[in-house]
Amino acid sequence: MGYIISTVNMKGGVGKTTLTVNLATSLAKNFNKKVLVLDLDAQISATLSLLPPHEFGKLRKKRKTLSYLIDNIIVPNPYSKLDIHDLITKSVCGLPQLELLPGDIDLYDEYVVSEMLHQQAVNENKIENFESVWNNFERLLIRNILQPVIEDYDFIIMDCAPGYNLLTRSAIAASHFYLLPARPEPLSLVGIQLLERRVKKLKENHQDNNPLDLRLLGIVFILSEAGGIFGRYDKYYDQVIRRVKQDFSIDQLFTTDIPMDVNVAKAIDLFMPAVLTSPNSSGSKAFSKLTEEFLGKINAFTQNNRG
Ligand SMILES: Nc1ncnc2c1ncn2[C@@H]1O[C@H](COP(=O)(O)OP(=O)(O)OP(=O)(O)O)[C@@H](O)[C@H]1O
Ligand SMILES: [Mg+2]
Repeated sequence: MGYIISTVNMKGGVGKTTLTVNLATSLAKNFNKKVLVLDLDAQISATLSLLPPHEFGKLRKKRKTLSYLIDNIIVPNPYSKLDIHDLITKSVCGLPQLELLPGDIDLYDEYVVSEMLHQQAVNENKIENFESVWNNFERLLIRNILQPVIEDYDFIIMDCAPGYNLLTRSAIAASHFYLLPARPEPLSLVGIQLLERRVKKLKENHQDNNPLDLRLLGIVFILSEAGGIFGRYDKYYDQVIRRVKQDFSIDQLFTTDIPMDVNVAKAIDLFMPAVLTSPNSSGSKAFSKLTEEFLGKINAFTQNNRG
């Protein structure tokens, strides 16, 4: 069975995209897992970390991006010819096990979605219960997009935008697990707390009617500057981590953290993640170790569930 995973944090710039693409690539390259990356952020950072811009441009011209599927859900087009299989880019970065559903700079218009759902509520005589119509749409949007391909992959990993927009909520609702990259800084911790509160509310919204099968796989610390003020051995860093440990159980934290490494940032220029462009760099080694830990957590979960 394929596991659906979303990478989320309310806070921007904490390393969501970098984690998504390096983890996905490492799973495909080093562990022979079949992986699909979905780019749910209109900044298209995950797409441009895996594809050269001119290739993305060609796909976009042919409308082979996620926005085609979202448009078709919001305003169904009886003449639409493409389905998700046609939109997935195969053998990304030359890896036969790695695939990408490219994102788009125009994903959806919140106003058009509200209008469509309002009309639907009126037609179904549910205007008094508009919230449930909206919740149901959120619940199914990403889930329905993925349904035809879930069984084709070991892992589907979704890179979410910062904040908590419709696509992020829908991605979390469709996921078995979410990954939470964070920097060990106070504001990043606020991002974790805000997200946890929102996820709790999301679960409550769906509690009565088909509860969500969703759990935190773990918090991954992306160190700000190894050896610097927020570095690995700094007391301040330890203090912040200690605060997180008070709020989360040990199995909700990854023991591997990711150091700042210029090779990780530079990899974008080659349109490939660092685990491919500089596999021996400290950042890439940390991502490989993290991938092992990721698989350990998934295996532990699968075994507990079977038992
Ligand atoms: N381990 C690392 N070493 C060096 N640079 C990194 C590392 N992780 C992330 N970065 C850099 O930090 C910046 C932000 O990372 P990234 O884009 O992954 O964050 P994000 O949370 O996805 O951001 P956004 O919220 O805008 O989507 C990028 O320029 C990225 O190259
Ligand atoms: Mg990002």
